[in-house]
Amino acid sequence: MVADGRRIGDSLVILTGAGMSADSGVPTFRAADGLWEGHRVEEVATPEGFARDPALVHAFYDARRAHLAAVEPNAGHLALARLEREWPGNFLLVTQNVDDLHERAGSERLIHMHGELQRGWCLACDHRLPWAGAMGEGAVCPACAATGQVRPDIVWFGEMPYQMDRIDEAIRTCDLFVSIGTSGAVYPAAGFVQTARYVGARCLELNLDPSQGSIFFDETRLGRASEIVPRWVDELLD
Ligand code: APR
Repeated sequence: MVADGRRIGDSLVILTGAGMSADSGVPTFRAADGLWEGHRVEEVATPEGFARDPALVHAFYDARRAHLAAVEPNAGHLALARLEREWPGNFLLVTQNVDDLHERAGSERLIHMHGELQRGWCLACDHRLPWAGAMGEGAVCPACAATGQVRPDIVWFGEMPYQMDRIDEAIRTCDLFVSIGTSGAVYPAAGFVQTARYVGARCLELNLDPSQGSIFFDETRLGRASEIVPRWVDELLD
């Protein structure tokens, strides 16, 4: 059986970005005003910004973590979890998103390359640990009891994304690479499609608008992820 020009059972790698969660009510980053929920990215998403004003950064991430309770996975998240369950070949979902919507939809073979809102990182003992509630400057590390040394376990600009070796290996051996809901503005994720092309994978983009890397894709389908992702998964599986 052939789907999207590939035999079912081939290796599939999917990359998602903020557009995947937009229909769940989670704001994307590069909206028209270029601000990120009223903040310059440099203020709240860099180690320098955290060193300069830890209270501002904690407040920003505490608010986004709290907002997770108010949002639900959308039909696009649920479709990707179904695809993972029913896809006969290798499957890996790499997300740039730090929300937990893929997990809540049932995705398991999942890498959060930019970290997760619901994890903390103690700079005193280097432990990384689940963190559901507010963190703030006075957070106490449950592992070493240090106070005020816990930061969000989020990959900030200038820091190395997580599990890049595993991601690179998956992309270099995939037959189908699908990018969903990302602007292609931030590397290394924005370069994944070029690696996939280099190894001969078919490359498909599902996005509201053409991304900055659209030229590298064999096919681009425009629309809202909650609508076009389920349609694509039905096509692929059925
Ligand atoms: N359905 C599908 N795509 C959508 C939707 C939607 N409902 N709404 C927006 N989009 C698309 C936009 O067209 C845009 O291309 O999602 C993309 C969102 O782009 P960004 O806001 O740049 O988010 P993302 O690409 O995930 O950013 C990458 O940048 O700031 C860093 O670490 C942060 O992980 C983030 C990274």
